[in-house]
Amino acid sequence: MRDANPQTIYLKDYQVPDYLIHTVELNFTLDERRTQVVSRLSLARNPNSQSSETALVLAGENLKLIRIVLNDDQELTEADYHITPESLIIHDVPQQRPFTLNIENEINPKANTALEGLYLSNGMLCTQCEAEGFRKITYFLDRPDVMAKFTTTLVGDKDRYPILLSNGNLIAQGDDDNNRHWVTWEDPFSKPCYLFALVAGQLECLEDSFTTLSGRKVGLQIFVEQHDIDKCGHAMQSLKNAMAWDEQVYGREYDLDLYMIVAVSHFNMGAMENKGLNIFNTKFVLARPDTATDSDYEHIEGVIGHEYFHNWTGNRITCRDWFQLSLKEGFTVFRDQEFSGDRSSKAVKRIEDVNMLRTRQFAEDAGPLAHPIRPDAYIEINNFYTLTVYEKGAEVVRMLHTLLGSEGFRKGCDCYFQRHDGQAVTCDDFVSAMEAANGRDLNQFRRWYSQAGTPVIHVIENYRTDEKTLALTIKQHCAPTPGQPAKELLHIPITVGLLDKQGNAIPCNLQESATGNYEVILQLTAAEQTFTFTGLAEKPVASILRNFSAPVKLTMERSLDELAFLLSYDSDTFNRWEAGQQLVGQVITGLIVDSQQGRPLNLPPIIIDAFKRVLSQSWEDLSYFSLLLSLPSEGYLAEQMQVVDVEAIHKAREFVVRTLAEQLQPELEALYLDNHRDESGQFDAGAIGRRRIKNVSLSFLSRLGNEKVQQWSTQQFNTANNMTDQIAALANIVNYPHPAKQECLTLFYQKWQQEALVIDKWFAIQASSPMPDAFATVVSLTAHPAFDLGTPNRVRAVIGSFTQANSLHFHAVNGQGYEFLANHVIALDILNPQVASRMLGPLTSWRRFDPTRQNLMKTQLERVMNSPSISRDVYEVASKSLM
Ligand code: ARG
Ligand code: ZN
Repeated sequence: MRDANPQTIYLKDYQVPDYLIHTVELNFTLDERRTQVVSRLSLARNPNSQSSETALVLAGENLKLIRIVLNDDQELTEADYHITPESLIIHDVPQQRPFTLNIENEINPKANTALEGLYLSNGMLCTQCEAEGFRKITYFLDRPDVMAKFTTTLVGDKDRYPILLSNGNLIAQGDDDNNRHWVTWEDPFSKPCYLFALVAGQLECLEDSFTTLSGRKVGLQIFVEQHDIDKCGHAMQSLKNAMAWDEQVYGREYDLDLYMIVAVSHFNMGAMENKGLNIFNTKFVLARPDTATDSDYEHIEGVIGHEYFHNWTGNRITCRDWFQLSLKEGFTVFRDQEFSGDRSSKAVKRIEDVNMLRTRQFAEDAGPLAHPIRPDAYIEINNFYTLTVYEKGAEVVRMLHTLLGSEGFRKGCDCYFQRHDGQAVTCDDFVSAMEAANGRDLNQFRRWYSQAGTPVIHVIENYRTDEKTLALTIKQHCAPTPGQPAKELLHIPITVGLLDKQGNAIPCNLQESATGNYEVILQLTAAEQTFTFTGLAEKPVASILRNFSAPVKLTMERSLDELAFLLSYDSDTFNRWEAGQQLVGQVITGLIVDSQQGRPLNLPPIIIDAFKRVLSQSWEDLSYFSLLLSLPSEGYLAEQMQVVDVEAIHKAREFVVRTLAEQLQPELEALYLDNHRDESGQFDAGAIGRRRIKNVSLSFLSRLGNEKVQQWSTQQFNTANNMTDQIAALANIVNYPHPAKQECLTLFYQKWQQEALVIDKWFAIQASSPMPDAFATVVSLTAHPAFDLGTPNRVRAVIGSFTQANSLHFHAVNGQGYEFLANHVIALDILNPQVASRMLGPLTSWRRFDPTRQNLMKTQLERVMNSPSISRDVYEVASKSLM
């Protein structure tokens, strides 16, 4: 628990380590409550150390120290060292030559509910060391710029722990007395301790292999609990796809003979890229057509790809310090996004990524916890695994890709890998490699790394008939964020295309450089710049910020007609969808005001016509078609408002959906029936698209409350043999009045009670329902025997879904949602600070609401902050959001 005054760590204070560790030999004697750790370190003073301090300070928390021996013969006594709650300080160690330390300590995995370090999940022992979990295993220089070669021996009971895994290659094994056996693993690559992992337990294994470009055969193994062995096929296929993709696109091969993935039920985040031994949340491994949805399948492929890609972007080249986290995370997210886009639909993937960025990351960047993708201060680093570091970080890498082109970007990557393989480096080193390989100056671009906040780009058009020119005057502005009152100008790539009156693309000839290309990338570097296109006999329609070429908010005057035109004709799939979103968004924004002022709601015919036109076209990519029919989310609409009014948003948006369902009922019914067929277990783009468009139609129609549609839902629920269709039907049954609601929920629970991930869906659906009894339901769900504060997936399914995906009820004006969240955060913090701190998120946006809600939210935040022995994690989030 927290010391009285949690300390802030600053990037500007970075210093190279005073000591380096060359090799580590670890020996674990495994036991649920008393695991013995013996660590033999070979160390030496770092010749580059700037400090005059000679003591050796090793990080360590919650460790029971047994013994320390220096250079194999000198057992240290209590006079030789000092132990604090967070460290072991050895006063005197050799300065001139290398030395060894043998440290013995004990840890209690069973008591470890924070799920950092070595812990227990359903009887299996496993580790999570990023960011600073290794210090909960043994005393060490727990920082990413200390890289060492690890050899690990695991000793354990043969029955309890038949499988014993760690990083690298298995080099020896044997039997001990007392029914114990041992295995030794050696990782030939130097690594920081955050990439260390061990797993021990009764696990089944799916095996396969992959032959690399250069002809090396790599063994692939996925380990799961016995009952899950039939759900690993998709993860294995995804891994092979990822390995092939990294060879093709980046020329990167895997470097060990073995790649292992272990799925565990208790996991704070998504997954972890430990060298040669990834550890995953079961959610991102397990899938069978009847248990996992199409979107689960996609996420699994994405996360498997992500962790695999880390082998080069994260492991071979790692971060110098945790401020550089985006160096590996932003880059690796960019890589997994591109991989997923190549595997399915680039258009759909891009839209989904931007949707998430704009609803969630933009909110973070506009709130009290806004920080640059390379933060400059933190109290608890676990709080900085954020949408900003990951998702905005990926957008920054994507802008480099846009500015340099694919070839230039690839050259930059090659230079980065070549310069820094085996090193712990900075974001700046990455940009420098891009500059060097391309002969470009990216100094202004670097500000994206240091500056928080979402820039607003304002565009004014001026067409001149006499000159046949279109001038775009573009301004950039970024509002202050905490600690950054004044913002510097950014280098922003803005991709533009032009359309004639018939909707055809026309050449974009800039006054200074007429290329004849159908698309240009404008380089916005000043506060205001004018770009003039020539040779335009009539006023074109400009399509701006194509493919969302920069993480900015674009503002410009657009008539509804112009938006409808772009929705019909823009050849850029992102902007075509975006035009539809803006068209509907503008209308809903108007309806929100009408609803607030008690005026009757009317849907302008242009919306119905636009939807009709989309529905009448034939679409090859049905997933993209589904997105064109989807309205901006309540979260996205909230982002657009000065003062968020969750009730008015919900009312206005529902009005639009219901009216469209009424007006387009025949079309939507036909769409449902045409695409409703039995093709379970098929995961080609066609089948996925058919399920998606069918379920979008059903969701529209469910608003009508008619018996026919209710029956469709019940029937789909009862007969579906894939989870996509079953859960979509159940969602409609739960979200709108339906006579069979309780019966279906009970049936579903009984059918799936052995499948934790499916039961998570059962919890999540009820917690996010807009029905009036949602709060009472959530309260009763937290008392359900299958609810457990010690299982992060379950906490996210119930508390996360209610507070993040049910704004309407979470923000109920009586404040009960806020109090509910605060109660659970306080209770959870005792067990698991990392997850507690994440759950607190929704309260931090209190400034966005009306005064009544502001007060209610602040009261709960203060209560959380002042509750006794709150963790550093929760303290940082609560205190910063109240500042
Ligand atoms: N490096 C992991 C990934 O993004 C995330 C691990 C974060 N863990 C944590 N406790 N903060 O792939
Ligand atoms: Zn990652």
